[in-house]
Amino acid sequence: MRIEEMGQQFADIFSKPAERVFFAPGRINLIGEHTDYNGGHVFPLAITFGTYALAAKREDRRLRFYSANFSERGIVEGSLDELDYKEEDGWTNYPKGMTKLMQEAGCAINTGYDVLFYGNIPNGAGLSSSASIEMATGVMLEGLFSLNIDRIEMVKIGQRVENHYIGVNSGIMDQFVIGMGKTGAAIWLDCETLHYEYAPIELPNASIVIMNTNKRRELASSKYNERRSECEEALRRLQKRMDVKSLGELTPDRFEQNKAVISDAVLEKRARHAVYENARTIEALNKLKEGNVEAVGRLMNQSHASLEQDYEVTGKELDTLVHTAWKQPGVIGARMTGAGFGGCAIAIVNNENIESFVSEVGKRYEEECGIRAEFYMAHIGGGARELVKEEIG
Ligand code: GLA
Repeated sequence: MRIEEMGQQFADIFSKPAERVFFAPGRINLIGEHTDYNGGHVFPLAITFGTYALAAKREDRRLRFYSANFSERGIVEGSLDELDYKEEDGWTNYPKGMTKLMQEAGCAINTGYDVLFYGNIPNGAGLSSSASIEMATGVMLEGLFSLNIDRIEMVKIGQRVENHYIGVNSGIMDQFVIGMGKTGAAIWLDCETLHYEYAPIELPNASIVIMNTNKRRELASSKYNERRSECEEALRRLQKRMDVKSLGELTPDRFEQNKAVISDAVLEKRARHAVYENARTIEALNKLKEGNVEAVGRLMNQSHASLEQDYEVTGKELDTLVHTAWKQPGVIGARMTGAGFGGCAIAIVNNENIESFVSEVGKRYEEECGIRAEFYMAHIGGGARELVKEEIG
């Protein structure tokens, strides 16, 4: 849907024009998976798919939410005086949670608002639609109420909404890249210190293709939490022998020298993934700076193998997509992206091979898994922001 049409819908639904238009992207992660909550590095980028928020301030304390994606639900009413989580409030818990936690952080949000959200991130694809709506709400509140809030502070509030309000124990990666993304660049982030660096992604003659398994992500959050606690347990055992604060602090060498103390095969595999994946993510930045895209592709392939065998978060659908992608001509690297258990994978593919890549991988995947995959070109866009006139058209 075009922004003009969203504006028309807003006017029809709320009987007044929208005052401002805000946007927050979705994300993919090049490499550095399941490393954020282990104190390691990640290497994500913001894409041009995302969540639009058209909004106008009110004089009273009412909140009116409307999603153009769930139009059958109509307007969902709320109030600044009732911001607690309620299951029956569904998707509006995200903007409600953001409003509540920003208020608690000292933001003066004194009146209500009307907002229409529209998202074009493929549904349930693991491209961070929830962090996107959190950050879209964040920049909307910042704009409507002229707040003076540090962007990294807003990112941390977004993560707190996810962890303590919604109840998903995720790391900082998604909100960080969505809040801080930059056109044409990925963000290399140290999740322990939040030190970060923008790395321009220049792919001469190649593009990043997103491959959607279209598989529902079942049990994703319980399995996610299980992996987190397995890593925490492995760390506790390592701490008996060594002074270490997080798995992200360990080089592969130090890990190999001390791993015996873990004395459990499964926990050892989980920790091995976290340690080696972090090392790969550090190396990926160096290779990218040298312009060695082939080496980055090889690291991505290793990342997938480790997520498949050691971390066990891939599953038949992601493995079929990625293994088939590896065999195609012109593929520089391919791996799952995001939490796993369904969702999306990415591949770097030479431009001249993309057409045959999409048809061949799509065909094989449907034969093997009985589901149609979808393919999108990833364009690296900017982070959460108010859209200026030129962007609105
Ligand atoms: C999800 C979480 C992130 C991160 C990834 C795995 O996207 O929200 O914090 O842990 O999974 O890398």
